[in-house]
Amino acid sequence: MKMDKSAQTLLLVLIGVCFIGESTIHTALMDKLADTKICADRDCSYVISVASALEDYVAPDCRFINLRRGQKIYVFSKLRPAEGAGVFWSGSVYGERYVDQMGIIGYFPSNYINETQVFQKHTVEIPTTDVDFFCA
Ligand SMILES: *[C@@H]1O[C@H](CO)[C@@H](O)[C@H](O)[C@H]1NC(C)=O
Repeated sequence: MKMDKSAQTLLLVLIGVCFIGESTIHTALMDKLADTKICADRDCSYVISVASALEDYVAPDCRFINLRRGQKIYVFSKLRPAEGAGVFWSGSVYGERYVDQMGIIGYFPSNYINETQVFQKHTVEIPTTDVDFFCA
């Protein structure tokens, strides 16, 4: 089969788009940190507790958030770690000085924070999904 120039160009563009699409998916779909998580409700939409950061934490990849010592953190979920794995919680940092981080939810090691106020004593344990660890 003989293709004309524009059909060839279109084919190359389509192949290119497929490659870009695939590499994006691979960087965004990260490994799951745990198979189950504890939340206040099935949508993990309620704050479980307020905590303060005991130490600075530098996020190793896009699944995590940076913490600065003394920052206030709203905890939304607590991952149930596999045997011997680190304990990670998810939450969001709120503070006047770090407005750029407001509302961003990510994971951090639970031993970097100290829960100061627990709002939700009743919690549910539910499976994690790939979307829980999806990030760009
Ligand atoms: C954690 O918070 C509690 C209550 O505010 C406080 O009494 C305790 O000293 C804190 N622990 C650490 C390690 O800072």
